Amino acid sequence: MIIKNVPAFVFLIALAASACSGSETAAPLRSAPSSATTTPPTTTPSSSTVTVANDTGSSLRAEFASLEEPYASADYARGRRTFRLCQSCHTVTEGGPNLVGPNLHGLFGREVGTMPGYSYSAAVNDADFVWTPERLDEWLTNPRSFLRGNKMSFAGVRKPEDRLAVIAYLMVETAPSE
Ligand code: HEC
Repeated sequence: MIIKNVPAFVFLIALAASACSGSETAAPLRSAPSSATTTPPTTTPSSSTVTVANDTGSSLRAEFASLEEPYASADYARGRRTFRLCQSCHTVTEGGPNLVGPNLHGLFGREVGTMPGYSYSAAVNDADFVWTPERLDEWLTNPRSFLRGNKMSFAGVRKPEDRLAVIAYLMVETAPSE
């Protein structure tokens, strides 16, 4: 009896061992691609993470997504393209020079007409509001009529989707770095 049981027992261990090694080889194969994510039970979350990461490309485009709507859905490429209209007169980087127009760094949340070292028109100097995306949308819709007598000689951005995109672009680009 004892002699008979031993081979059966050994056989079971061998079976269990082979089953184990079988699942060991399968497991790394499955978890390897999603090793970055801690919860890989379903493929959907990890694959969508990968998609976002691929789309991100630049950190700027990723920051777009973190803005509040409707700016999060704005078209990044369109925003950058539209900003070319402003570029000859405005810089956006911290400590960037005032050109024909003032440097726009830290624009949102800033009182209108307060970039140090820039000489504003009386119209802008006398204005009293804080820049928000909504205010900028009004300004860019028709710069001339928004603050009568201002000296920004710019026709404005006519298409709403261009304004939305360039505002989203500026929300990211002029944001003070932390
Ligand atoms: C031809 C030059 C020119 C172009 C192009 C131009 N601006 Fe300006 N911008 C100015 C000038 C000049 C002022 C100052 C106006 C004043 O003092 O009356 C100004 C002021 C501003 C201000 C107010 C800043 C503050 O400190 O309160 C904002 C915001 C602004 N521009 C955004 C834009 C954006 C966005 C674009 C492009 C879509 C643009 N501008 C295109 C010349 C320009």
